[in-house]
Amino acid sequence: MRTDTAPVVRLEDYRPTDFLIDTVVLDIALDATATRVHADLSLRRNPAGREDAPLVLQGDELVLLSVARDGVPLTADQYQADPQGLILPGPLPDQFRLTIETVVNPTANTKLMGLYRSGGNYCTQCEAEGFRRITYFLDRPDVLSVYTTRLEAARADAPLLLANGNLVERGDIPGTGRHYAVWHDPHPKPAYLFALVGGTLDTVAEEFVTASGRKVEIAVHVEAGKRERAAYALDALRRSMRWDETTFGREYDLDVFNVVAVSDFNMGAMENKGLNIFNDKYVLASSDTATDADYAGIETVIAHEYFHNWTGNRITCRDWFQLCLKEGLTVFRDQEFSADERSRPVKRIADVRTLRTQQFAEDSGPLSHPVRPRTYREINNFYTATVYEKGAEIVRMLRSLIGPAAFRRGMDLYFARCDGTAATIEDFLGCFAEASGRDLGHFAQWYEQAGTPVVTASGQYDAAAGTYRLTLSQATPPTPGQPTKAPMVIPIVLGLVGASGDALPIATTNEATVDADGLFVLDSANATITFTGLTERPVPSLLRGFSAPVRLESELNDDDLIVLFRHDSDPFNQWQAGQTLATRLILAAMRGETVNTRFGEALGHFLDSDARNDPAFAAQVLALPSEADIARDIGRDINPTAIHNARLAVKRALGAELAPHLNALHGALQSSEAYRPDAANTGRRALRNAALDLLAAGDATEGAARATAQFDEADNMTERLGALAVLVLIPGAARDHALATFAARYGDNPLVLDKWFALQAGIPEEGTLDRITELARHPAFSMGNPNRIRALFGSFAMTNATQFNREDGRGYDLIADTVLALDARNPQVAARLLTAFRTWRVLEPIRRGKAEAALRRVAATQGLSPDVSDIAGRSLE
Ligand code: PHE
Ligand code: ZN
Repeated sequence: MRTDTAPVVRLEDYRPTDFLIDTVVLDIALDATATRVHADLSLRRNPAGREDAPLVLQGDELVLLSVARDGVPLTADQYQADPQGLILPGPLPDQFRLTIETVVNPTANTKLMGLYRSGGNYCTQCEAEGFRRITYFLDRPDVLSVYTTRLEAARADAPLLLANGNLVERGDIPGTGRHYAVWHDPHPKPAYLFALVGGTLDTVAEEFVTASGRKVEIAVHVEAGKRERAAYALDALRRSMRWDETTFGREYDLDVFNVVAVSDFNMGAMENKGLNIFNDKYVLASSDTATDADYAGIETVIAHEYFHNWTGNRITCRDWFQLCLKEGLTVFRDQEFSADERSRPVKRIADVRTLRTQQFAEDSGPLSHPVRPRTYREINNFYTATVYEKGAEIVRMLRSLIGPAAFRRGMDLYFARCDGTAATIEDFLGCFAEASGRDLGHFAQWYEQAGTPVVTASGQYDAAAGTYRLTLSQATPPTPGQPTKAPMVIPIVLGLVGASGDALPIATTNEATVDADGLFVLDSANATITFTGLTERPVPSLLRGFSAPVRLESELNDDDLIVLFRHDSDPFNQWQAGQTLATRLILAAMRGETVNTRFGEALGHFLDSDARNDPAFAAQVLALPSEADIARDIGRDINPTAIHNARLAVKRALGAELAPHLNALHGALQSSEAYRPDAANTGRRALRNAALDLLAAGDATEGAARATAQFDEADNMTERLGALAVLVLIPGAARDHALATFAARYGDNPLVLDKWFALQAGIPEEGTLDRITELARHPAFSMGNPNRIRALFGSFAMTNATQFNREDGRGYDLIADTVLALDARNPQVAARLLTAFRTWRVLEPIRRGKAEAALRRVAATQGLSPDVSDIAGRSLE
């Protein structure tokens, strides 16, 4: 076992390895409890390393059987080995072969890192440091090797044997019932991209012909019996491959591309070279079992992992501090893909919602860290919204700053120059600086400085002079380890809107400051823009398209916001104006003030006009800001119950006021056509569900009736679950009946059952805590399945603000107890669950005290994993 606190790893301490491993030849005999791993490594001294240094290989819970150098077994004085490492003190030749035999027990591997079993099959997860749980290795991303993998297993146990690269040979081992397969991956790669799969799987496959005419077999493999649900993933894969060819000029580079879906997986999916392994949540879909959101998630994650082939695999990271180099860039690429496949504005709104709920929350609390961290104890804890989502925002800002043409040239240069290397953020930015002729030195600050910048805007109209002076200023609050902040380079896309909704001309005293696309770059603490030639007072529309990941504070009044809500030509800001108006209503309700209803009127008008032209967008407009959004807006002394009640009151009032519109919409949006998960139908169902939700808030009786009818009549999961989500909020027989019906219908489908667990965990009622204790005893509940843990405990802690933050502290205790119980089994999932406490410091004093006590209890527990110990420690700092 590793000890409590792992040592700190620092970016500034980076140095190249003393050895390189050019080739790796693996021979792996799969066995449920004793898998033998025979590794043949060709090593040579790294010219960039230290002379005469010993060879130090990492291991994790390994059992060593034998070790030989150039074919000669090593004697006890020639090496030191324990489960955590293998050291050859030397002297060592400049070049040699090292043969290592280890044995591992995949059945006992509950951490789901390294080689493990899921659904009776064998699979691996090696990122970030899982390969060292298979064999001793230089387990870091800057060691690139060519792998050949021979797998052997009983044919009955594992008829399918997959590894990275191309299949070069397969056959039976006569008289043994065993067979083998040899895979060769010609592309040098770091160990974290190694993968193997062995087992009984159902396959859907097709041929893909690349732009240059090469044939590739693309295949999706799923657990036996789930084949009918694999088609959409394969379709999304084909579309992703085509998109990367047309958008970035990137072709696939092996003869096969395999996707394997497993039911036990710590994260979403993994981009192993030529052999992506997925959480089956991001592969399996049918109209009866998956929602439109599930389909969209599959499309995004399939694309994300595929896009890693170039951004992550061909060009990988020098060290784990550069994680955003592959993750931020690849999220940007998958967001662009989905935007092109669906509605760009709706995708942008959805992405910003995620950014704000996840990343802004993380960035305002004790777990805040730069997109490129400078230190870590446990790298598993840095697969965060900051690295992924804010990392993607930085790439998007880069594109707005230098323009799409220079951006594409920079990407081409990056692919040409860094292909086959383990790169850094400096390498990446260098390509764009060169392609655009711009100095990106100041911009690079986005990778270094944590925290969400606050941009404040105020304006002054001078009717006599026809000018409007807009003053913008920026400040970033302190974050752990960074008490003072420097100004950032913030691209602000803006426009001016007249009272009747017309776009006003943009002319400034200094023409250069705002370009033709409305881009202004705020790169100092304050700036003033003087717009000229105005004949009326303009309403500024700032941060269009959410052009930078900042908090915007502006002094627009309600009338200004109504103008933007009605007329802004930028759909993001149109949506944002509605959200801001709704936020004001909720904040007013919290103060006990009477609510202003012009938003209701505007919304009613919108529902009768524009809404039907773009239902997906309208659904986003109808969804009120979340409780977390309101909490972030308030910022301190948070009482989640007060927020919940105020939001509910506003929702009820709007639901009642808009009832006729909502009823009409809900009826009109029903469709008798066969289910299709395309953008248009998805949008229609999203609006129908949003209308039902608001309607039910306004009139529980009418809502329950409509929801019950929708639940009973639905021929697809989106509408069935949408109805159930409304019903669970209304206590009574209809709810109990619907939950029971749902469980009976889907009892043998784990992914659908997860929805059932999650919905109940999210009920904002006192009784939910006991319900969860009961559900944890349900025969279908298991602490061995990460999806199930996330469905029950994750949904409770992350989405049920009033009950997790119960004033009596029992919500915190439940999660603390669960984290502790889970830690010994699966530290990565336990640590992730503990991050639910990340905003504890902004709670009101009673809850804050209870949350702190629960966190301290976790932190004080003996024998914690490095994962949980790191999160608990930083949360309390
Ligand atoms: N690299 C994976 C991705 O595509 C995420 C992941 C990280 C999966 C660590 C497993 C373990 O984002
Ligand atoms: Zn990724």
